[in-house]
Amino acid sequence: MTPATIRAAVVTVSDRSARGEREDRTGPELRRILAAAGIEVVESVVVSDDVLPLTDALRRLGDAVDVVLTTGGTGIGPRDVTPDVTRKLLVKELPGFGEAMRRASLTSTPRAILSRATAGVIGRALVVNLPGSPGGAVECLGAVLPAIPHAVHLIAGAVADCRDDTAGAAMPKTAKGREGKK
Ligand code: MTE
Repeated sequence: MTPATIRAAVVTVSDRSARGEREDRTGPELRRILAAAGIEVVESVVVSDDVLPLTDALRRLGDAVDVVLTTGGTGIGPRDVTPDVTRKLLVKELPGFGEAMRRASLTSTPRAILSRATAGVIGRALVVNLPGSPGGAVECLGAVLPAIPHAVHLIAGAVADCRDDTAGAAMPKTAKGREGKK
């Protein structure tokens, strides 16, 4: 399986966009980034911040595509339920995705700590929660995108060897690391 064969869906979770009161600007941004990464976006949906429509969308897409990105509803407002619905459906949670997104975002805004975004496996798909603002969603996707193809391959049982020959390339050389190479 190559990135070109990965099929994705984007779920915008927003009361106002679902009612047609606000243009969904984040979904198109996410589609553009996925396409640039060679990942085919086969479906985009907009749902309200309600448990049932989001549950239905995640259940259905979890059996239909390889990756589902949600955007919105990750905070602590009265209507924010995206991570709660996601977590209820997960068969395996990937807390590292939320950790990586918050770590990356905290360099831009202290408010990044307010996102409860998580990720994991629903059906046969990797599901990743992203915040609702276009800038926040793009920044968070950037933090986890490099891991997505490998995660999809792992879910499909298509990985024989997890070794990452590129892993050290971006790592800073610590004093300890240099000593270790002597
Ligand atoms: N992360 C990044 N990178 N940039 C942002 O602007 N906004 C934060 C946080 N994460 C933000 C971010 C804010 S203000 C909130 S309330 C939470 O995401 C939840 O946003 P959501 O409810 O739209 O998902």
